Amino acid sequence: MVTPASDSPALPDEALPDDAVPTAADAELLREMTPVAEELFERHLKRCKHWYPHEHVPWSEGRDFAVGERIEEFQLPEAVRSSLFVNLLTEDNLPYYTLALTSLTGMDDVWGEWIRRWTAEEGRHSIAIRDWLTVTRQLDLRELEDARMAQVQTGFFPRAIPTVADLFVYLSLQELATRIAHRNTGMLLGDAAGSEVMTRVATDENHHFLFYRDLVAAALERFPSVMVPAIERQVRSFEMPGAGMPAFKEHAKRIADAGIYDLPTHHSQILVPVVLREWKVTAVENLSGAAESAREQLLTLMNRIGRVAERMRQRRSELELNLPRIGSRLRNA
Ligand SMILES: [Fe+2]
Ligand SMILES: [Fe+2]
Repeated sequence: MVTPASDSPALPDEALPDDAVPTAADAELLREMTPVAEELFERHLKRCKHWYPHEHVPWSEGRDFAVGERIEEFQLPEAVRSSLFVNLLTEDNLPYYTLALTSLTGMDDVWGEWIRRWTAEEGRHSIAIRDWLTVTRQLDLRELEDARMAQVQTGFFPRAIPTVADLFVYLSLQELATRIAHRNTGMLLGDAAGSEVMTRVATDENHHFLFYRDLVAAALERFPSVMVPAIERQVRSFEMPGAGMPAFKEHAKRIADAGIYDLPTHHSQILVPVVLREWKVTAVENLSGAAESAREQLLTLMNRIGRVAERMRQRRSELELNLPRIGSRLRNA
């Protein structure tokens, strides 16, 4: 996954509280939202299909590796390999996401049940993607393993998630962003088994997104003056996990340049549909003075991101007249 920030203007990040210590307000929000979370968890269990990663890997294409063997010739374009590399390392960082969630919600009641189930589902993503990569030799697996060791030892922990409200908003945006990145990567693999693996992973991410999206929608009705400032903070600071990955900036730039995941995608496929259409922030009522000004800042920020995204889109479509990008395949799909 890639942060859209690689292409975005520098957004101010002052006044972002950084310490995730649960407060009485967090406890109240969790308590009030427990019945909603229970319903959404039930819905998730009914909708989410169990699947087996090993059934989607073309094992017969594989062969043994010699100790020390490097893979240096690849069929896939560099940008697609960057996307696989970053997406997989993001999935490998799962222990720290679980930690980030439980540090705010605890492990009691439906919150613990959901997080344990979510962790189990997320765990199969790295299994499936790594197995497919190992068999098809699309990355240098020694480099990948060194990167996994570096990434996990860094212990990247998402910053700027100070409250339970922020956590729910961040996870809504992050799960959707991950779904889009996995799906777009899968479409560029040119391999039916690889596309199937990425589609199944993306479908899981979509179910996670729906859980958090609807949790935030319900919380907006009950705690509008808590949720709107949280949305503003998370849109302002949104960043996909990448810190700690070797050469993350270079990979992120390649992924954005190829149109797999970039600022225009972030704006048109995440911010506008979720924040404006699903959460309907412009129509939220009974806001405190502070929450009202957070909403104004949020709308100003989204307009600004939209303008930058539109300029990027125009610049790229001019470039594509001469040099078609891989990403044009995504838009024509
Ligand atoms: Fe995942
Ligand atoms: Fe997910």
